[in-house]
Amino acid sequence: MNEHGPFSIPENVYVSQHPLVQHKLALMRSHFTESRKFRMLLREISLLLFYEASQDIPVAPLTVQTPIDRCPGFEISVRVGLMAVLRAGIGMAEAILDILPAVPVWHIGIYRDHETLEPVTYYDNPPSQEDIDLTFVLDPMLATGGTAVEAIDILKEYWGASRIKFLGIIAAPQGIRTLLKAHPDVSIHLAAIDSHLNDQGYIVPGLGDAGDRQFDT
Ligand code: URA
Repeated sequence: MNEHGPFSIPENVYVSQHPLVQHKLALMRSHFTESRKFRMLLREISLLLFYEASQDIPVAPLTVQTPIDRCPGFEISVRVGLMAVLRAGIGMAEAILDILPAVPVWHIGIYRDHETLEPVTYYDNPPSQEDIDLTFVLDPMLATGGTAVEAIDILKEYWGASRIKFLGIIAAPQGIRTLLKAHPDVSIHLAAIDSHLNDQGYIVPGLGDAGDRQFDT
């Protein structure tokens, strides 16, 4: 329940209950957390969420030669890609690159035109690698959902992207509804679902502007 009415979590939306995620989220939300610490927390939460959201990445068996003997092991058997929504998704992508350094990253910048209210893509830099099987779309704040819908429209058109997971930190119910309505095949992985959006489009209680807080702007 939130102050704007009940919101039951749809089937393909996952909100981490992990104590580490919840502990770090509270620190991240705090008005008194300065940007250096905020960036660190964003990276840590992103990694923890990615760990949970990547549980079902397909693997294939292989044999490893240890210094002592041969033994069975596994390797990731699909092509994974990241799409980082500028600017706030950059920190999330950096965190994931620490554990999967070879994955291609697509940076995309989208803003909403104040008059037409239509999303406008101002930066779109896809990697050269095509045919990605599983893409993680990274944006810490799922507010109206307009940016996420547009980013995933573009992603599906270019990469054909057979499987897409959206990784965010905080969502508003409106953003979840909008995203799932446009792309019901996308799963959404979060640290929290907050109450609503205010008149300026900020998530309440949220954490403020995730870009400004990371880069101290
Ligand atoms: N983007 C942000 O950075 N914060 C919000 O609360 C909503 C959108």
